[in-house]
Amino acid sequence: MKISVVGCGYLGAVHAASMAELGHDVIGVDVDERKVAALNEARAPFFEPGLDALLERTLRSGRLRFSSDMADAAGARVHFVCVGTPQKRGEYAADLRYVEAATEGLLAILAPGDLVVGKSTVPVGTASRLAEMVEQKVPGAMLAWNPEFLREGFAVQDTLHPDRLVYGIAPGEPGQRAQELLDEVYATILEAETPKVVTDYATAEMVKTAANSFLATKISFINAMAELCEATGADVKQLADAIGHDDRIGRKFLNAGLGFGGGCLPKDIRAFMARAGELGADQALTFLREVDNINMRRRIRMVELAREVCDGSLLGKRVAILGAAFKPDSDDIRDSPALNVAAQLQLQGAVVRVTDPAAVENSRRAWPDLDYAATAEEAAERADAVLVLTEWQQYKDLDPVAFGRIVAKKRVLDGRQALSREAWTAAGWSYRALGRRTD
Ligand code: UDX
Repeated sequence: MKISVVGCGYLGAVHAASMAELGHDVIGVDVDERKVAALNEARAPFFEPGLDALLERTLRSGRLRFSSDMADAAGARVHFVCVGTPQKRGEYAADLRYVEAATEGLLAILAPGDLVVGKSTVPVGTASRLAEMVEQKVPGAMLAWNPEFLREGFAVQDTLHPDRLVYGIAPGEPGQRAQELLDEVYATILEAETPKVVTDYATAEMVKTAANSFLATKISFINAMAELCEATGADVKQLADAIGHDDRIGRKFLNAGLGFGGGCLPKDIRAFMARAGELGADQALTFLREVDNINMRRRIRMVELAREVCDGSLLGKRVAILGAAFKPDSDDIRDSPALNVAAQLQLQGAVVRVTDPAAVENSRRAWPDLDYAATAEEAAERADAVLVLTEWQQYKDLDPVAFGRIVAKKRVLDGRQALSREAWTAAGWSYRALGRRTD
């Protein structure tokens, strides 16, 4: 099928290449000409494992190309809207200007029978508003909402093998036709018996924000337990292991530490709260404010812990920060807890050196005043404390004995429970982690 994908960021670039991999004829459209040029040369404009190879393969097959001209999307039967919905400046609400611009841009090239498919995360109510616009301007054209659940670092795998498909469709015949078109797009995925939920617009929109709110709540729950563990001398990792054995709870997303960041969870829970307020249902989501508070407190606590291990003062102390991306296998630094802690430490007088296997370039652009190193070893030279703030495999694999020879003081703060407490302690390090005993 001929498909267009509007917006070629984290979501759209992966979606476009994945749709071509499934055998469709795909045109990716983005207003950023540099991004388009890079993508046409099979260079992903961000770090995502497997994406370069997928781009290379699908571009070579002739089924994928990228353009900065919306007119090139004409002739496609299904048009995916994959643009960003960032947090508005100074407000909790989501900024919908890109979604609106993309949909309006499509109106000029849509033909009757075409389907616009929203994948961006939007406040509930957006889809029905956009559907009205599409139907009015191009009678016979349709809109569906098909939220995306991909995780950065696993984006290709999650797109090609999603754990579920959700279609938000209009009632009646147009919705039926939209569903048939989506079934055709996802035929290969559906053959693999992927669960499919067909529902109305509002539910489809809410599935995404509810899922992200649940995940954020789960992380903040265990981080709240970490605070209690610190107060009681209990150990949050063992606690998570033990409660995680209960199938109803599950061990995933119970890793206590520096908390969540990135381009999705923080802004999505805030936009959800803002929307609930507009709908007069703010009470239902006041708990998310607490989820957000617990999460932000982790960053402050990490700075305090660093001060504590540096004998009560950060002034002039050399601190190595391992990890700048908001999660491993990504170069995304949006709302990165690691960079936030690094900046706070520097403001409080520490001499901070940050390293990351993929995110140094992005970090330097956003935080030019921080000092960066190419490797963990370089960052940790003569350090008074080492903070592991993103759990990259490279850092998990560090040899505590060899690494101990580089630093001035063998003090490590494990912000992501990434290291073996036993191995590091045995190598003579003082090991500290949020919510864990010191021994
Ligand atoms: C998230 C959702 O998982 C995904 O379904 C949605 O489509 C987009 O938002 P992503 O932002 O890529 O994906 O990251 P995710 O793996 O969910 O991690 C989010 C943050 O939570 C990271 O900062 C991570 O370090 C943190 N986290 C995760 C924890 O602190 N503890 C955990 O146990 C799990």
